Amino acid sequence: MSDFWNAWVWVLVIAFLSFISWLLYSNYIDSHSRRDHHRLDETHDGIGERYAPIPVWWAVGMWLTIVFAVAYLVLYPGLGRFPGLLNWTTEKALLDEQKSNTILQETLKKYRQVDVEKLAGDPQAVLLGQRIFRNNCAVCHGHKGEGSWAFPNLTDDDWLYGHSADAIKTSITEGRTGAMPAWKETLQATQIEQLAQAISGTPTEEGDALYASYCAACHGANKEGNPFLGVPNLADDIWLYGGSFDEIKQSILVGRNGEMPAHKEMLSAEKIHLLTSYILSLSTKKEEGAANE
Ligand code: HEC
Ligand code: HEC
Repeated sequence: MSDFWNAWVWVLVIAFLSFISWLLYSNYIDSHSRRDHHRLDETHDGIGERYAPIPVWWAVGMWLTIVFAVAYLVLYPGLGRFPGLLNWTTEKALLDEQKSNTILQETLKKYRQVDVEKLAGDPQAVLLGQRIFRNNCAVCHGHKGEGSWAFPNLTDDDWLYGHSADAIKTSITEGRTGAMPAWKETLQATQIEQLAQAISGTPTEEGDALYASYCAACHGANKEGNPFLGVPNLADDIWLYGGSFDEIKQSILVGRNGEMPAHKEMLSAEKIHLLTSYILSLSTKKEEGAANE
């Protein structure tokens, strides 16, 4: 910045602030020094013009703004070449940010070398994984991974695709689509009701026979599910789409196709590694809790 422009900015800024201060001061003093605040100044054709002083709250707000402006100009760059007492520069701010980014990248790289099972026991890694989870996964799986209707709970030990680290990593990287066909075209309404009854807790001979012919191939002879196909266990008390007679009937009628989006384009391999260990830590905590009970 040349000397001329440096001086120009100084003069302009100081002149402007002084002018505003003077304007405020003179008006405020003028209006509040009169005793008769609401005297009638003039009358035109019977319409009176009253004299209204500047409200105190407004004047105080204005003074605070001026004080803020002066403090800012003393601390930060704004007055020509004067750098401000804090020596803040955009270059330095950028460098600081890049430094903290590099630290994050290096931490992520370091964690990438460690087994996910081991990382799940490292509180520092778990905390970082939790942050990535809350930013990317919590919308669907809940703030603590507790899940909700149609979104699986990731903190219990019931898994659609199995509990291994590899299965969890594949779910995150490649995404998953549940493939439960709709049966309303294939089966009669009474058959679907018999099936829903069999699954919701009152097995009948007809229901069991229907299950064996239409469902056991995927859900297993004992309703135990199949992690290779992402097929849920129907014998436990954990339900993705609800376990009442009506909800089960609905699952059979219309089918279910839960969609877990692939994250390989959105998240680096390092972040997915850390997320996997975070999710492992959620179910490990639960097991420890159960052991303590
Ligand atoms: C748009 C909603 C959505 C988002 C975002 C999402 N998920 Fe999922 N996720 C699902 C659904 C739905 C399923 C169940 C898929 C199915 O039914 O086959 C699932 C399944 C999973 C599974 C397999 C669970 C099991 O029981 O085997 C894991 C692990 C998982 N998600 C982790 C994550 C992680 C980690 C993130 C963040 C990077 C994430 N999800 C983001 C919807 C989502
Ligand atoms: C091709 C394999 C396949 C067949 C055959 C199949 N299912 Fe499914 N079923 C699935 C999958 C996969 C899911 C999970 C869907 C999801 O994740 O969105 C599922 C989900 C369900 C659910 C919901 C479970 C929950 O936790 O809410 C019920 C109930 C169900 N199936 C009942 C049946 C019945 C009854 C039959 C036989 C008429 C049947 N299924 C046949 C694959 C199958």
